[in-house]
Amino acid sequence: MKSINSVKGMHDLLPKDVIVWQYIEHIIKDTLLKYGYKEIRFPIVEKTKLFNRAIGHNSLIVNKEMYNFYDRNGCSLSLRPEGTTSCVRAIIEHGLLYNKQRLWYYGPMFRYEKPQMGRLRQFHQIGIEVFGYADTYIDIELILLISRIWKLLGLSKYLSLEINSIGCLKTRKLYYKELITFFQNNKLLKNTNNNIINNPMRLLEKYKTLSTLKKVPLITNYLDNKSYNRFLNLQKYLNNMNVSYNINPYLVRGLDYYNDTIFEWTTSNLGAQNAICGGGRYDLLVNSFNCNHSIPAIGCAIGLERLIILINKNNILLNNKFLIDVFLVNVDNKLKSLTVSLSEYLRDSIPSLKLVVDFYCNKISKYRKQAYQLKAKTLIIIGDNMLLSDQLILENLVNNKKEIIKKSNILSKLLLILFDNN
Ligand code: HAM
Repeated sequence: MKSINSVKGMHDLLPKDVIVWQYIEHIIKDTLLKYGYKEIRFPIVEKTKLFNRAIGHNSLIVNKEMYNFYDRNGCSLSLRPEGTTSCVRAIIEHGLLYNKQRLWYYGPMFRYEKPQMGRLRQFHQIGIEVFGYADTYIDIELILLISRIWKLLGLSKYLSLEINSIGCLKTRKLYYKELITFFQNNKLLKNTNNNIINNPMRLLEKYKTLSTLKKVPLITNYLDNKSYNRFLNLQKYLNNMNVSYNINPYLVRGLDYYNDTIFEWTTSNLGAQNAICGGGRYDLLVNSFNCNHSIPAIGCAIGLERLIILINKNNILLNNKFLIDVFLVNVDNKLKSLTVSLSEYLRDSIPSLKLVVDFYCNKISKYRKQAYQLKAKTLIIIGDNMLLSDQLILENLVNNKKEIIKKSNILSKLLLILFDNN
């Protein structure tokens, strides 16, 4: 019988991958916590009409990429293609709108796209959403927060920040008209479906290499005073904080809820799927949920799969990191119970200790290989010496020094290696 594999574009994460994921998750979550962001969790499934309304009926995501299905009651439901919509739904539903909020969420998102490197049907995002702050300073805080994450992950040099302003709704209506006329005049508008009419900026990306596009009207020349000043301030503050960026007037986001500031971090390392994190302001989204409230908001989401491809491709991160402190093993069948009691003694004595045990294999070289694979900092071997003279072998895998020590000295020797080295 043919074996049944995972669904196309949806992947398993094996233990060796999960180690990298957990390390990255830890750095991002820890940074968010330090900036005062709180985690929110919401379901993977929502009513289809929620996404239709928030992301836009004519957006590519709603039109072509949603996983929609009917439940047994005939209710149309969808797997979430992104988190902003659910986050807004949740804070309205639970009356959290009345205070300012800095929130984050993490989990799988689903889009029926053609799978390729960096483009999956189930992928993971860490999303960050801020509600109640209208000032440009929050745009800066968010950009600085993400930049800090890149720095902590050692990724700054692989990523560049692109910014644009798409102004307010009124500006965009006017600009879209001009853009459509430009595309028509240049015979570039083959397809006049609603997707394009409602957001002709999407064609900018498609035709950006054409020389004709040098003369294309740019949204940045259509901004009203308020949006223009906001965009100028954003640039000024970024300059003040020494954040490098490119103004990309062709930058357009795939979701319809944005206004004014939009941004993306891209890399030249990943081919076509080059956006690692994207977001922007969405000051009108809350109001569009019929809740009689206008709440300024801004957010972005990091795509974990793309981030990890970038990290692995450049051999960053885990190369010199130890994932466990001790790999404790024995080379004699008779020593198994001693291994268990020593491991528990060490765990009791050093509560933060990461210790992995293996029982009985008579080849020390095999154990050493295993210790390197586990990325252990030390290897403790309980050998024949233990029975004869109460001695253990302690190997420091940082400097490859090996010593034979009395069992009673193991704790002090181990503490020296774990906390003095590195
Ligand atoms: P987005 O640009 O659609 O924005 O997605 C954010 C990130 O998710 C992308 O930059 C990319 O790294 C990753 N991503 C998107 N689609 C895929 C895919 N098919 N496979 C792998 N990775 C993917 C949003 O989703 C907005 N909700 C972000 C936001 C939050 N805006 C405001 N707040």
